Order: sequence, then C-alpha cells, then structure tokens
Amino acid sequence: MKISILTLFPEMFTGVFQQSILKQAQDRGVITYDVKNFREYTKDKHNRVDDYPYGGGGGMVLTPQPLFDAVEATKTNNDSEKPPRIVLLCPQGDRYDQKKAEEFAQEDHLILICGHYEGYDERIREHLITDEVSIGDYVLTGGEIGAMVITDSVTRLLPGALGNDTSAITDSYSTGLLEYPHYTRPKEFKGYKVPDVLMSGHHGKIDEWRREQALKRTYERRPDLLEEVELSDKDQKYLSTLQSKTKK
Ligand code: ADE
Repeated sequence: MKISILTLFPEMFTGVFQQSILKQAQDRGVITYDVKNFREYTKDKHNRVDDYPYGGGGGMVLTPQPLFDAVEATKTNNDSEKPPRIVLLCPQGDRYDQKKAEEFAQEDHLILICGHYEGYDERIREHLITDEVSIGDYVLTGGEIGAMVITDSVTRLLPGALGNDTSAITDSYSTGLLEYPHYTRPKEFKGYKVPDVLMSGHHGKIDEWRREQALKRTYERRPDLLEEVELSDKDQKYLSTLQSKTKK
C-alpha cells in the first residue's frame, strides 16, 4: 500500500514516520509513505497557493491549480491499476472511525490532502476528491494531524505491520466492544491485586471474565456501541444483570 500526503508543511511528518510501528512497517515493505509539498506545483509567479475569497470576507482560500496538478502527478506516479482514494481533511467531512480505517486499509493508494487557511476552493471538493474526512468535532489548525491519525490507524491494520497480527483484531473497536482490562506482574502492587481468575489457569473462565469485562466497560462508557454488536444469549443475560444493578 502507498499513502501520499499533500501538505504545505512536510517536515511535520518526519518524526511521526521515523518512529515505532510506522517506521517498522516501512522497513518491512508493508507500506510506503510519500510526503509532498503542493506549493511545488503552483504556477503562480510569487509561489502562492491561496487567494482572497470572491465575494469578500476574511481569510484566504486554497486555489485549485496547485492541488489539481499535485494530485495528477501523485496519481500517475503509482503503478496500481485501482484508482486512488483522494481524501480531503476538513472539519465538514464524514467522521473518521475504525470502520473507515478498515475500509481505507483495503485500498492500494490513499492520497491525503491537508489544507490550511480559511478553506478550499469548492471546485476541489466537487471535481478532484473522492472523500472528505473529519477526525472529530473540533477545528484544528490544519489537516496534517488528521492525516497522521489516518496514516497511523490504517497502517496498523495492514498484514505484517504489527509484530503480532492478532492484536489488531482483538483491540478496542475491531471487536465492536471496548477492550477488557489487562494486568501484568507483579501480582500485588501497593496492595492492589490482580483478579484471581487471571491466575487460575482456567482458560474457559478467563475468556468468560474477559468477555464480561468488555461488555461491562462498553455498557458503562459507550453504550451506543452495544447497538451495533452481535450479542449471544449469554451476553444479553449478563447485560440484563448489569442493567438491573445500575438501573440505567
Ligand atoms: N482540519 C481542521 N479541522 C479538522 C478536523 N477536525 N478533521 C480533519 N481535518 C481538519
């Protein structure tokens, strides 16, 4: 897979892509990142990529030409037959979640466009991109941090990116539930103990405890997620006992 990032601040990505899993994934040949400054594509003689809005008002707007040319150059520079997903990062986009990360992880090529200033010329939205994505209901100074969030969450889903492939499957959201609590040594720390069941060696009981804890945590923190999850009769029964205890 390849992720291309079009930005005015390419240096922002240097540290992020040179550490930990994102670095390992590149070293293992699982993914290629390609960060480009789209200012290099402007035909403006003063090197500008933005201009005043027609109709007046404050702020500057990104002009279409540099981004159209940068996307064209990025597209043609790719050997995959599948057309790329061209994603505009902006607060008005579809809210990014694990499902979207899983969908993007199926692609061969993602092009992430990071804007700054007041906004984008609307023709970029109408005629250049395939998706608009927001990483949350707040306004950032630009799309770069959003592009890092997408890159990170997509990369870790690719086969071979994490040392242990099962960890991406059991983590929070992939199962539809929040994760159960984890413990490691020591058995007792400052008088706080590890639950007995985890040291019982009884795998059936441990699995049952973990499932219940995941259900409990999801019920308490994100009950909205329970509507989307497939629940067994046993799960339903456990949730009913929780409900009767908390009278939610
Ligand atoms: N640019 C500014 N705010 C943003 C957000 N919430 N998500 C993605 N890109 C943005």
